[in-house]
Amino acid sequence: MKISINAIRPHKPVFKSYNKINSGNGLSASTSFYLDIPVLKKSVEIIEKEFPKGSDILIYAGSNGEEALSIKTLMKNPEKYNIFSMDIFKEAIDFAKRGIYGIHPLAEDGFLISEKQNAEEQKLSNIFHKNFTEIRKPKQNINNLSDFIYDIKFGDKELFSQKFFKPNDSLKRNIEFLEGDILNISKLHLNSADNKAGAIFFRNALYHITQNDLTGVLQYGLTPNLELNKQQVLDNLIEKVHRKLKIGGIFVLGRHLQEHLYIADKSVPLKDTVPVDNKRGIRYMAYPPHIKALSKNGCFKPLYEDIIHGFGNNIKLPLIWQKIK
Ligand SMILES: C[S@@+](CC[C@H](N)C(=O)[O-])C[C@H]1O[C@@H](n2cnc3c(N)ncnc32)[C@H](O)[C@@H]1O
Repeated sequence: MKISINAIRPHKPVFKSYNKINSGNGLSASTSFYLDIPVLKKSVEIIEKEFPKGSDILIYAGSNGEEALSIKTLMKNPEKYNIFSMDIFKEAIDFAKRGIYGIHPLAEDGFLISEKQNAEEQKLSNIFHKNFTEIRKPKQNINNLSDFIYDIKFGDKELFSQKFFKPNDSLKRNIEFLEGDILNISKLHLNSADNKAGAIFFRNALYHITQNDLTGVLQYGLTPNLELNKQQVLDNLIEKVHRKLKIGGIFVLGRHLQEHLYIADKSVPLKDTVPVDNKRGIRYMAYPPHIKALSKNGCFKPLYEDIIHGFGNNIKLPLIWQKIK
């Protein structure tokens, strides 16, 4: 598939429940509960249909655990599945193990503690409150707010007050939080006899491993890395993911524009690029390299596609891929 780029726009900044930057690489570990709910619901539906007796679910780029916990609350038979929530960023794993979450009313998941816009939000909020217990503001700083606007105070009174929650014991059961790099996925030891998983999530992190920092192009004028061969990085990743998945298992991607629109590195022939900034010699790849990698040899088929915001004409792209051979 070839993309045509009409009116690419930067992502509108949103508040997240944990807006933390990794000081080592400057990349974001931010996330929130129930992020991209259509994809989460569809993934759970497929997993429970394909593996009714259970399977291992690997959530890489799991950040502080919100994704794993959200997924588990959506399952009909959660006790059958082992969930590994992994991230390369140790601080995020420490946060997940501590298991105290602050929800800010302005964050993406702020609807969980404030007025609901629709029936879906109400339903999710009911599920959340069944699985989490509200606690008093912890004494220790849970360090999840990087933007001062979250934290405006008049004297002692906060303008926007957060609420704090911990997952109930039943929700934490069968979820393991581990430091882990998806590129070392082959070394991960699972309980299943074939050492393969029913699902691998790696949402909103392909741009980390490919250093595809679109904000540098769209907003701040930083210099993107044009040396790293993105197609090679993604081919290598998909090969590893393929080896670790059972037949029928799924690979789940994020919806962020940076996952789907790639800055062309030096290895991409000019004819396969689309100009974006002639002055700085920056071009996009006309063929999304992750789709190329996933379409190779007919090993995966796209199972669910949806609109990616940021493409001018609202292109739909696959977000869930199934291993078919
Ligand atoms: C923007 S967050 C996305 C979190 C969550 N999946 C979501 O969609 O909201 C990206 C996360 O990917 C993690 N990450 C980056 N490279 C990784 C790798 N090679 N293996 C595992 N996690 C990685 C980062 O540390 C960060 O927490």
